[in-house]
Amino acid sequence: QSTQVAIIGAGPAGLLLGHILGQAGIDYRILEARDKAYVLGRIRAGVLEQDSVDLLAKFGLDADLKANGLTHHGIYLQHEGERHHIDFAELTGRTVTVYGQQALVHHLVAEHERLGSQLIFEATDVQPTQIESTHDGDRASLAYTAPNGERITLDCDYIIGADGYHGICRRTFPEGTLDVAERVYDFAWLGILADVAPSTDDLIYALHRDGFAMHSMRSSTVSRLYLQVSPDDDIANWSDERIWAALQTRLGTEGWTLTEGPITEKSILPMRSFVVSTLNYGRLYLVGDAGHIVPPTGAKGLNSAIADVALLAEALQAHYAGDDTGLEQYSDKALDRQWKVQHFSQWMTDMLHVHPADGSAEQSAFDFQRQLGQIRYVTSSHAAQVSLAEQYAGLPFVDAR
Ligand code: FAD
Ligand code: DHB
Repeated sequence: QSTQVAIIGAGPAGLLLGHILGQAGIDYRILEARDKAYVLGRIRAGVLEQDSVDLLAKFGLDADLKANGLTHHGIYLQHEGERHHIDFAELTGRTVTVYGQQALVHHLVAEHERLGSQLIFEATDVQPTQIESTHDGDRASLAYTAPNGERITLDCDYIIGADGYHGICRRTFPEGTLDVAERVYDFAWLGILADVAPSTDDLIYALHRDGFAMHSMRSSTVSRLYLQVSPDDDIANWSDERIWAALQTRLGTEGWTLTEGPITEKSILPMRSFVVSTLNYGRLYLVGDAGHIVPPTGAKGLNSAIADVALLAEALQAHYAGDDTGLEQYSDKALDRQWKVQHFSQWMTDMLHVHPADGSAEQSAFDFQRQLGQIRYVTSSHAAQVSLAEQYAGLPFVDAR
């Protein structure tokens, strides 16, 4: 069998890339290892940058976003019970939109089904078999097992690894062609979804002596909240009562009430920073989490995946119009933007989390005071707020040429 572009992975990156290529008249097939219910059920990110929203609008993929997304003009930064608003709209003229990744994936899958796209769930044992041009021809190929058990060989021009952090595409790069830069953290996030109206208009990011806490939302009736916990903690240790008590302590300020409600989902999410040295080898290109991971503070994971897709889709379109410059420059341009995003995500993370195992108790105490100084600086300096707002609302997506 044959297609122009084979996309491995039906996360937001793979699903979106398929739509953009399809609209440009480029043939594609998306191969997803998991079943549809699993893909639709995954709860993850929640904030879209302005450029992500604009991109979805440009390709007519924003009907559900327009109906259910919540435009936000800023965030609250909080320390020691003091809450400060940072107004992105006023500082930069840009806004962000709270819209769950789950809703986005739902909409992108529904649109693929409406269009009759080649979106194959339960495509297992996907294996790129040819990723370099050979003297016999300029094509790539891969093999996969279809849901009916048939082993299929798919020839294509390009293979796109949109298969996330645990995917196989990154591991297909020949030895010595890809290095990894990585950092692990000595804390994790416990995330909950609760059936209760948000107690805040904008998201709250709080540093407290007990650890970081955040109040986000999914709709006018569903709240999303996070707590810093130890990475080796077990969710079984966290009863609903204990979670609400910790949130009340860490988010509390005078004259404000956090309304509690039934918790419908809770889990502990690991945290890492990770970037590959290149997103391209031969006819194989990586997008999204397959090539880079950020700690979640600042909501950059999903937006980085969308930024990669915007760049690569444009480069692929240019290729089919006879210009390969975009494909040649894709990896460098995407990684250039990504390292700036890595810096911002780590900066937000370091500022807002208690550093428990950084060294001695004295070091920890010093760091906490230093972080309070940092937050007081950010919340009192116009220049610092413009910098935060510019990065949170999103660095511009780069051009493929
Ligand atoms: P993914 O969404 O991981 O999609 C990859 C797809 O490839 C999956 O569907 C997978 O099943 C499929 N796949 C994997 N291997 C194969 C294979 N061998 N063959 C075929 N298919 C394969 N970001 C934020 O900004 N804020 C958050 O709060 C936040 N929370 C998160 C919570 C969790 C638990 C995780 C894991 C991530 C979170 N992120 C968050 C990050 C954000 O969700 C990701 O950056 C985003 O999902 C990246 O999209 P993607 O399409 O690149 O990868
Ligand atoms: C959400 C997640 C984040 O990592 C973040 O910085 C803001 C919001 C969320 O899930 O809503």
